[in-house]
Amino acid sequence: MSTTTRTTPEDITAAVVASFDGCTDERLRVLAQAFAKHLHAFATEVGLTQEEWEAGIALLTATGHITDDRRQEFILWSDSLGLSMLVDALANPLPEGATESTVLGPFYLAGAPLREYGAAIAEEPAGDPAWVYGTVTSVDGEPVAGAELDVWQNGDNRLYAVQDPDAPDDHLRGRFRTRDDGTYAFLAVRPVPYTIPDDGPVGAMLVATGRHPWRPAHIHMIVRAQGYRTVATHVFDAASEYLDSDAVFAVKPSLLREFVPRAADDAERPAGVDGDWFSVENDLVLVPSAEPGEPTDPGRTA
Ligand code: BEZ
Ligand code: FE
Repeated sequence: MSTTTRTTPEDITAAVVASFDGCTDERLRVLAQAFAKHLHAFATEVGLTQEEWEAGIALLTATGHITDDRRQEFILWSDSLGLSMLVDALANPLPEGATESTVLGPFYLAGAPLREYGAAIAEEPAGDPAWVYGTVTSVDGEPVAGAELDVWQNGDNRLYAVQDPDAPDDHLRGRFRTRDDGTYAFLAVRPVPYTIPDDGPVGAMLVATGRHPWRPAHIHMIVRAQGYRTVATHVFDAASEYLDSDAVFAVKPSLLREFVPRAADDAERPAGVDGDWFSVENDLVLVPSAEPGEPTDPGRTA
């Protein structure tokens, strides 16, 4: 009778971890071994069944099938599991007072038109006018002249221009430069809550787990300036629904702003506005850096 000892689950995990011992790329070895260890720990902890393993493989397969150069379901998984926010927080610790970053999202398209101070980004009616204004400063309080604000948002139909085949290409997006005193302004519309793309595997996960696909109302901005770290951030409407249950965990309290109601006869009513409007004060604080960096999320969802 054979007396060989049984192979245990721990033996299997140990063999996989050890298989990477000879990896000469030190960082890759750390990543591979930690990944194997945590993946096996997950399966062991929950007692992963054959059927659940198959369902997981089917989910990954469906994610691959729905992903193309416009739809990036893998990044949507990362967003909806909070991984995008975690990676950003780990990679970009910020000094006190600096504008916090948040998720880039799939609806950013480089190359928005450069617009004049105070210009409208809506190229057709898209909601209640919102005058967004503020000053860009360094963490030491010095104004930053010539900083670029790359702005995009949705309209009252909930859609970003890249999602709306009927919208002009440059609708609800634009780039603005700060003046010599660091000030900027543009005419936006009050954004509305909307759902992340939920017709694929991520949407199925949200339904199956009793989560919802909504994001609170926000305007996106990437702020770039010579000698400063680039920051991708949001202006959240402090009165929006879903601030406490954002589907992608991107809300940071420091990014909430009040949309202040203003009357049509207000002396400060911006050019191009006929009726009632909102104003939103949004100062931005940048961190000096020799290497500005750039958001790298390439995702696009049509
Ligand atoms: C967005 O804010 O545009 C967004 C971010 C993450 C996932 C989906 C949408
Ligand atoms: Fe968004």
